[in-house]
Amino acid sequence: MKLLPPEVVTACYILAAVLFILALKGLGNPRTARRANLLGAAGAAIAVLAFCLSVELRNIWWIIAAVVVGAIIAVPAARRVQMTQMPQLVAAFNGVGGGAAALVALVEVGHSDNPGTLGVVAFTVLIGGVSLTGSFVTFGKLQGILTSRAVTFPGLRALMVLLVVAALAAGTALVLTGDAVWSFALVAIGLVLGVLLVLPIGGADVPIVISLLNAFTGLAVAASGIVLGNVLLLIAGTLVGASGTILTMAMAKAMGRTVTGIVFGAFRAHVSAAAGGAAADRPVRTMGPDDVAILLDYAQRVVIVPGYGLAVAGAHHAAAELAEVLRARGVDVVFGIHPVAGRMPGHMNVLLAEANVPYDALVEMDEVNPRFRTTDLVLVVGANDVVNPAAKTSPGSPIYGMPILTVADAQQVVFLKRSLNPGFAGIDNELFFDPKVSIVLGDAKHTLTKILAAVKTTA
Ligand code: TAP
Repeated sequence: MKLLPPEVVTACYILAAVLFILALKGLGNPRTARRANLLGAAGAAIAVLAFCLSVELRNIWWIIAAVVVGAIIAVPAARRVQMTQMPQLVAAFNGVGGGAAALVALVEVGHSDNPGTLGVVAFTVLIGGVSLTGSFVTFGKLQGILTSRAVTFPGLRALMVLLVVAALAAGTALVLTGDAVWSFALVAIGLVLGVLLVLPIGGADVPIVISLLNAFTGLAVAASGIVLGNVLLLIAGTLVGASGTILTMAMAKAMGRTVTGIVFGAFRAHVSAAAGGAAADRPVRTMGPDDVAILLDYAQRVVIVPGYGLAVAGAHHAAAELAEVLRARGVDVVFGIHPVAGRMPGHMNVLLAEANVPYDALVEMDEVNPRFRTTDLVLVVGANDVVNPAAKTSPGSPIYGMPILTVADAQQVVFLKRSLNPGFAGIDNELFFDPKVSIVLGDAKHTLTKILAAVKTTA
């Protein structure tokens, strides 16, 4: 029995769409992100309920079983995931979303012979398939199951072109004949294309691909909204597609890359700077936590630059407390935030917000860079690529062109890291050998805790 009249369903859909838009807007700021998340979830709940109450549900037990199985898998995964593994979780959820959109469209093949609908079905199954396998290969690269380096082989470009041509042919055949066999062919092509699209993408570009595939999933979902005649699915998919595209472009810009360069870069011969070698025999200045406390004693302006290592070490609370103690002594302390520090957009902001660092102490790259010239001491905590001058000086380097935090402009720089190993992009950092740079070797949390203890004793 249909419990809701169409007008009420439409009103619910409009409300859900408004909630989705408010959620997206709120997610752009750490202050409002938590509430925004709840708004988005409320919108999704309203939309699903309104839909279920607007149709004759013949398969209610199947639907409930699917929801229960999904919840059993997703809730513990989302609860247990470490902050550093968030991109993998997003990749996995995104892949499942793309696969679901493809399945929904596949079901429609037998129900329609309208060429327009079949054209949209062809698009949905293809993109959904690309999104499914592409996301899982990305997951494997980020999780370390697959190599994070670019994987290419001779004939890859020709194979890709062949698959795209085959997809166009199968799509045309599906529209003309309505024969389900072509939709299965399209799924198969999409699944292979997804793997081949992501395999040649490596190093620092991998996390950007998640956001690109997220845009793909959004498009697939929007198209399945057209197939099913469901306006809300169309709106939600379009929002995901648009936000994924904007995020991809913003991340690519922050890394000084173009989206086409990221996707097709590996098809060209990729020149990558030697990793790990140059650092081996050259002297670096090391110091201990007590020495850093002494430097901090004399510093009036300090910038803390957090990176991926801070997240891995869980050193954000110690960093926040150090900043707090110094600030109480009248030292001017801020955190310099690079847009791609860590492994996901806003990674550092989220961590430092969790550690109750005031929002005005988080200073974005463009604003903090001029400040380094008048800074006495920079503490680089578990960051590497985002301060690596190779981005400016080594045209062959994978990070060449990425804007960096110009920490070398400060009076002194201290790195807190465990070794001279490179960061995510796999390239050495010349800064380690700069006379004004020192390194405190060790786990960032451990080192910061010792620095903090030493600073407190000199109070
Ligand atoms: P990275 O360049 O990856 O450097 C992190 C450093 O942390 C490593 O050199 C590592 O050195 C150190 N480290 C690891 N565990 C540690 C621990 N427990 N204690 C202390 N140090 C530790 O990080 P970054 O500077 O934040 O740069 C981010 C990279 O990710 C960039 O290449 C960026 O392009 C890429 N990326 C980010 C994003 C987003 S949106 N954030 C998206 C795409 C790509 P040791 O092993 O010597 O300790």
